[in-house]
Amino acid sequence: MDVRDIIATKRDGGSLSVAEIDAFISGYTAGSIEDYHASALLMGIFLNGMQPEELGHWTAAMMNSGRVMRFENLGRPAADKHSTGGVGDKASIPLAPAVAACGVAVPMISGRGLGHTGGTLDKLESIPGFCTELDGAQFERALSRVGAVFGAQTSDLVPADRKLYALRNATGLVPSMPLIASSIMSKKLAEGAESLVLDVKFGSGAFLPDPEKGAELGRQMILLAKGLKVPTRVLLTAMDRPLGLMVGHTREILESVACLEGAGPPDLRSLVCALGGEMLHLAGIADSTCAGESRIAASLDDGSALTAFENICAQQGATPGVYFDERGDPKNLDHEPFLAEQGGHLCFRDVCEVGLALADLGGGRLSEDQTIDPGVAIEWHCVAGDSVSRGEPLCTIHHRQGAGLESARVRLRQAINIGPNPSLPPLILDRFG
Ligand code: URA
Repeated sequence: MDVRDIIATKRDGGSLSVAEIDAFISGYTAGSIEDYHASALLMGIFLNGMQPEELGHWTAAMMNSGRVMRFENLGRPAADKHSTGGVGDKASIPLAPAVAACGVAVPMISGRGLGHTGGTLDKLESIPGFCTELDGAQFERALSRVGAVFGAQTSDLVPADRKLYALRNATGLVPSMPLIASSIMSKKLAEGAESLVLDVKFGSGAFLPDPEKGAELGRQMILLAKGLKVPTRVLLTAMDRPLGLMVGHTREILESVACLEGAGPPDLRSLVCALGGEMLHLAGIADSTCAGESRIAASLDDGSALTAFENICAQQGATPGVYFDERGDPKNLDHEPFLAEQGGHLCFRDVCEVGLALADLGGGRLSEDQTIDPGVAIEWHCVAGDSVSRGEPLCTIHHRQGAGLESARVRLRQAINIGPNPSLPPLILDRFG
């Protein structure tokens, strides 16, 4: 099959056949189709979308590009959650151990930083020794030993998403409904979870800011899961402000640990409890989402979620309690306050700029081989809607010897507005599925 014909089909708004999809996904995964051909095809999909059946075949081909796991002998249900991505979104890090502590196994294949958003894997890898590059057997062993595992796409697990994810990031092709849906669902359906909760973000820090578009993405992903009989719930949640107070790898780990200790910012705790409550309910461990939420909250307060996290760290090569090395050490960074230029209420005009400010400081990645500075961060001292006075520090920029500081400042000015009290949507706008 000539890859140029496949590209031409999408270029002209047509639908790809099963044979064309299989030829492309297997050829690209194997390396016989070049990145420039793949980029052209992704652009065609970005511009012209995909028909539901076509998207189903595309997702299945991605899922089947590596090992598809099923866990029959775990002795407990396996459930997972995935987010469409946001700024400061570290919810998976406290969520997986909390759910594991409540008796549900969590096989989690996560992603790296994408566009302006940070990746769970990059955050976890800021912990010295923490290894997420596990093959299928190591992934399975970790899950059965400690009840939850964080893995990456590898040459063994959804390799097609590993390559396409990096390519989309490098070519500005992230915010596409079929590309997001297939990327998320190929990972989730390959990892053996028996039920799924999807955290679909809306607002200026989301890839699809419009809540209606977010809901449509959620419905598409539910349809894909239905094909494989995986019960799925969608929560449509706010990304019109950063989640929590910290944006930056090491500090997001520390904020996640605070959540696991029963503390941390209220929005992070609420989201973890809501997502976890749904997961326990879908897995049949709790009679209702409300009962599930209470169990998750209890696991955060009684130390069992933290113990589960420490076990995951030890299983994946890290030392429990050691969450940063010299580069991540907050003491080794330079700090500068970012002050309010006038009094009023804090509102986020464009959350995306906060994520890009972090990237300017060195905490983001434009290509796969770029290294991330785990220590740089933006630490908020107030949240959307708070009343602030002129000259008050809104956040602290943690930078390394001024690198990227000026452009980060410019971006933060773009990110916020200080004015009348904004009317904020609820953290959880809708649930369905
Ligand atoms: N998360 C993913 O795994 N893939 C996307 O495309 C977006 C968010």
